[in-house]
Amino acid sequence: MSTGVRGQWSSKLGFILAAAGSAIGLGNIWRFPYVTGENGGAAFVFVYLACVLVIGVPYMYAELALGRAVQKNPVGAIDRLRPNSSWILVGVLGVVTGLFILSYYAVIAGWTFGYIFKMVIPNWLTFGEFVSRPVLVIFLYTVFMLLTIFVVHGGIRGGIERWTTILMPVMFFLLLGLIVYVNFLPGSGKGLAFYLAPDFSKITGKVILSALGQAFFSLSLGMGLMVTYASYISKEDNLVSSGLFVALADTAIAIMAGLIIFPALFAMGQDPAAGPGLVFNVLPAVFEHMPGGTVVGVVFFVLLSIAALTSTISLLEVPTAYLVDNRGTARKVAVWIVGILVFLLGLPSALSQGAVSWLSQPIVGDMEFLSLMDFLFGNISLAVGALFLSIFVGWVWGATNASEELATGNPKFKKWAPLWSFLIRFICPASIFIILLNLFKFF
Ligand code: PHE
Repeated sequence: MSTGVRGQWSSKLGFILAAAGSAIGLGNIWRFPYVTGENGGAAFVFVYLACVLVIGVPYMYAELALGRAVQKNPVGAIDRLRPNSSWILVGVLGVVTGLFILSYYAVIAGWTFGYIFKMVIPNWLTFGEFVSRPVLVIFLYTVFMLLTIFVVHGGIRGGIERWTTILMPVMFFLLLGLIVYVNFLPGSGKGLAFYLAPDFSKITGKVILSALGQAFFSLSLGMGLMVTYASYISKEDNLVSSGLFVALADTAIAIMAGLIIFPALFAMGQDPAAGPGLVFNVLPAVFEHMPGGTVVGVVFFVLLSIAALTSTISLLEVPTAYLVDNRGTARKVAVWIVGILVFLLGLPSALSQGAVSWLSQPIVGDMEFLSLMDFLFGNISLAVGALFLSIFVGWVWGATNASEELATGNPKFKKWAPLWSFLIRFICPASIFIILLNLFKFF
């Protein structure tokens, strides 16, 4: 296998673990359960699965094909295929989105990291007190950014691949242990029913749209991340099966997170629709009342920190790859430039949970600074990016070229190419357009 000037994953498994590491994160363990809880449980899970299969996976193939064909970050890839066209803006949007998502995501990841220690200090701070301490949150945020910079600094094989191959399996087994534990608690069965027995009358337009949005965020789609990660895949590898495996792993971890959280919540008589505070607010309270809860709590937040780290690494990699590919910056320099820029961008988010009052006020609707960032970049930007990238791949570069790339390393794909072309040219853009309409209705 060749090692060019650019890095390359050492094996197919290296890519799968790194891409799954990117996909699996706070989106699966923190966001998926609370969105499920708010949207009525099992029916939402059902719609979510359909969205992943019909829209998420086909769209992921578009990003993978583009990335491996051109071997560049999203800006470089589009520039190569349509030089000096305004399509470049779609790539730029991806890089910028990466910077901004990382800026607030690392703040939440910092809390997660801090909660490991909070679990062993009884009656220390409530969630509200915890996130409003400026020195504490900035310290945790700094630690998390440094960890992220450290890994990306090491490059593709020695950094990202090496660490994700260790961290991902550890996380999987920690989750498995927790599932077994909480499902032995008395009363947990009601949680399982809420989570797994669908009441289809609960499916509404809002449920479908939340499920679509969650699928994009969770699979790390819409900002060219899979374009970048696919640029390090060898031509011999099978993109189709790798992508499918990443989607399966991401979905499995989200489902597993629900298998922990809902049984635990119902066993403790808590409300599943508690919103974004579910993991930070409700779960520690649940752990407190459980025998052996301190250990379970520590394990849980270690796990969430690991999941978040493999995602922050990937978010840092996209702008870094842009500087390395397009500006010729040395990787080790690029990582620090991006890391410091992101750090500064994230400070207002870190201080927006009560530490600085004007940042903590609602700015648009009921959203303070951090929520606004999540809405703008974690929702709108990803949807806009995915809309234009699916049009770019389906119509501009062309579904035929993309299909050929997908068939490289997997000749059997040819049979599926017509179906995939239809999905990427019509179904993906149309359904993403509907998500966007729903987002704008918000204003
Ligand atoms: N997919 C990640 C998660 O679920 C978040 C993410 C979004 C990472 C977009 C990279 C790009 O937490």
